[in-house]
Amino acid sequence: TAATCCDLILFGTLGDLARRKLLPALYQLEKAELLHQDSRIIGVARDAMSADDYRTRVRESLQQFVTKESIDEEVWQRFSAKLVYCAVDLADLEAYSALGDITDPTKRTPISYFATPPALFPIICDGLASVNLITAPARVVLEKPLGHNLISSRKINQHVGRYFDESQIYRIDHYLGKETVLNLLALRFANSIFSSHWDHSTIDHIQITAAEQVGVEGRWSYYDDAGQLRDMVQNHLLQVLSLIAMEPPTRLDADSIRDEKLKVLKSLRPITSQNVRDDTVRGQYTAGFVGDSKVPGYLDEDGAKSKSVTETFVALKVHIDNWRWSGVPFYIRTGKRMPQKRTEVVISFKPQPHNIFHETLSQLPPNKLIIRLQPDEGVEIQMMNKVPGLGKQMQLKPTTLDLSFYETFENKRIADAYERLLLEAIEGNQYLFVHREEVEHAWRYIDGILAAWSDTAESPKSYQAGTWGPVASVSLMAHDGRQWDDES
Ligand code: BG6
Repeated sequence: TAATCCDLILFGTLGDLARRKLLPALYQLEKAELLHQDSRIIGVARDAMSADDYRTRVRESLQQFVTKESIDEEVWQRFSAKLVYCAVDLADLEAYSALGDITDPTKRTPISYFATPPALFPIICDGLASVNLITAPARVVLEKPLGHNLISSRKINQHVGRYFDESQIYRIDHYLGKETVLNLLALRFANSIFSSHWDHSTIDHIQITAAEQVGVEGRWSYYDDAGQLRDMVQNHLLQVLSLIAMEPPTRLDADSIRDEKLKVLKSLRPITSQNVRDDTVRGQYTAGFVGDSKVPGYLDEDGAKSKSVTETFVALKVHIDNWRWSGVPFYIRTGKRMPQKRTEVVISFKPQPHNIFHETLSQLPPNKLIIRLQPDEGVEIQMMNKVPGLGKQMQLKPTTLDLSFYETFENKRIADAYERLLLEAIEGNQYLFVHREEVEHAWRYIDGILAAWSDTAESPKSYQAGTWGPVASVSLMAHDGRQWDDES
């Protein structure tokens, strides 16, 4: 069991994130016996509610969101005994005394999880300070969005920083909790065949795709304010890019890893009005079909304004101006309402320098290493092989070495990202959380793109729901003589 006995204070416990992700993740940790037996989960929200009513609400969330299995009654007994409810009107500083009354930091480490809109972060910090729940080893876990741009993210960081030291702050990027994202570290640094060829001398380019089938999922106004660049690239995809591109860290600890990721973020070549047309594509979906379902266009979703120019798709050509990656573009694309849910990284190697075979060069596709982050997690290597046979001429064929995690690690359940992240936060390990400087450098890069877009005064290009984005995304690659992996 876990070493840390804590009070996990869940602000926003009745909200979507807590119901869908946090409570089910905590239930799984309980099931795996990874929570200290005296730890508690203190749900905080405004409504007055009895402890029993709260437990009933939590049970309902678990029934809905713990997938692929039914609730184990024995685990539920243990779990529900840890649940405490505390009604606090978060905007009222006085109300936090209720939390002070039921906690004792000398007995249980207070870990405050802010699953609320960021506008409430400052007042929650003030409230926690007023009842003495901020002194180390107390910690705070922050959920995205951490700001809307560099300035607003600095404001949040400054306010939280007034009460908590950086070593107490755990900024969540749930991609860092995904098994397959962590596996990038294993793949790169435990395999010399990859670590010794991971640079411009062997790699031609890298693609990162995060395609989603979902649309805005009933949160049009949040999404419209953000757009796909802020919602997916600023955080998740720049984190994935940093893990792929960083120098080997000296150790697997927070400082070493975060220092290396930060260097990558600092080396991103800014996108400005000079290169924005060549290096970026913005799209917005129109009505179409995803799978067999007919879906409305972005501007016809519930709650939509008719004139929005928010992007639901973005493709970028990213340059990392450093020694290792000189001349190796990273192409990123992500969008809503695409044909499949698919997140993958494709490392595309350089072609052979000289051809001794009968096939033309275009019949000899270069090697690819495909890292499937989700679904169908796994790693794939595309390589050429001789077709067996006695024919006079040697015949070659592209083949695939495919390692599926489900088949290779039979009976291993792939944990949800939040399970790992909650566990690390409870144990006080920061290596999977994002440092303030990383957030700010990522925003600097994203702000540059947003400013350049607004200078061009162009609207996003439309694409039909259920397709791979606007044609311009294909041209972005074709212009460089390359193509997205699904086109080849
Ligand atoms: C969230 C975004 O952070 O990540 C969502 O706000 C997006 O818009 C989601 O759908 C994607 O996460 P995952 O784990 O499903 O790839």
